Amino acid sequence: MNLKINTAQLSSELETLAGFSDAPAPAVTRVVFSETDRRARRYVKELCANAGLTVREDAVGNTFARWLGSEPGLPAIGTGSHIDAIPNAGRYDGTVGVLGGLEAIRALQRGGFRPRRSIELVLFTSEEPTRFGIGCLGSRLLSGTLDVAKASGLKDKEGKSLDEWRAAAGFAAELRSVALPRGHYAGFVELHIEQGPLLEQHGTALGVVTAIAAPSSLRIWVEGEGGHAGAVLMPGRRDALSAAAEITLAVEAAAKNSGAIDTVGTTGVCDVFPGAINSIPVRVRLEIDVRDTDEARRDTVLAHIQASCDEIAGRRRVAIRTEMINADPPATCDQQIVSALVAGAAKHHLSCEYMVSRAYHDSLFMARIAPVAMLFIPCRGGYSHRPDEFASPEAITHGTLGLAEALAELAA
Ligand code: GLV
Ligand code: MN
Ligand code: MN
Repeated sequence: MNLKINTAQLSSELETLAGFSDAPAPAVTRVVFSETDRRARRYVKELCANAGLTVREDAVGNTFARWLGSEPGLPAIGTGSHIDAIPNAGRYDGTVGVLGGLEAIRALQRGGFRPRRSIELVLFTSEEPTRFGIGCLGSRLLSGTLDVAKASGLKDKEGKSLDEWRAAAGFAAELRSVALPRGHYAGFVELHIEQGPLLEQHGTALGVVTAIAAPSSLRIWVEGEGGHAGAVLMPGRRDALSAAAEITLAVEAAAKNSGAIDTVGTTGVCDVFPGAINSIPVRVRLEIDVRDTDEARRDTVLAHIQASCDEIAGRRRVAIRTEMINADPPATCDQQIVSALVAGAAKHHLSCEYMVSRAYHDSLFMARIAPVAMLFIPCRGGYSHRPDEFASPEAITHGTLGLAEALAELAA
């Protein structure tokens, strides 16, 4: 089969998709279920329909575009990623896996390939935790990893629930209908930018992912005592933000001191109440992300953070409450899909190396119900989750080609 990627079309579609943004270019902000996200979804669905794919949406907005195989009763091969983007992000995170997945399907169609298993492109809802505080919402529900009642109870910062948001976006069915059984997919493979610098540094075209690191997120509330910034003297203060500042330093220290370079800890959210320059902070909400390739080591770091919170609370006479939002195990990729990716790269003389994904992806949860693997492409400087995120059309083409070859092998 003579596989050819239409780089110009794919680049132009990525550019159009980047235009659905609530931040000025080059930044992209596309939070799940916002009007912008809904317009972007319509655009992607239209592209899928134009490619002759049958589109279905589930109750949380996961979107499936299926190319029917000659034996449609067989479990399908899935591919895809997400199109939501964190505030002030770039244009390639997730979107390369969705539009690259679509282009891989179109390239196979143009090449005259006829799949035996159906090939299904999946656009997952809310891979990013921006609105509801938990990442991979769609794939967690799809894989039965997240309890439906717990999901229904999720609220955004304004107190609007997931059920309200999805109803407003036109997804009204029962959430419990989202889960798919093990065996629904014969395999799932996700194309993504690396989001780290290794492929670029090594001059390697493709990264074949063998494992995905274990993520966790923690929400912490600190409650102190407010008051007048001029009138309350320093010795009597119970400043919630000063306590929270110590917690962020404790997070950094716990990650740094884990003994392994693979441990990372980040405090990415700090909401201060009442947030006035002349008022002592009475309440702070922190959101903290801790990850590691080793689950036990990550859990040790989480325990150190908890111990620091207890110590800080006692010493500063503030109340500190911690809530574990998620603490997920890592995923191991499937050897057969890994081999299909390596063989696909070799067919086109593309260099590849094995790697671990330090970022999480929907594949982490798809691994609960199907064999999975991921294909990474280099991105400039390893930059991601920032506006200057960049993957070259050449790199995207390589990834799409490698993905298409693997899909062909797995669906044959
Ligand atoms: C995904 O966006 C992650 O934070 O790893
Ligand atoms: Mn991301
Ligand atoms: Mn992503």
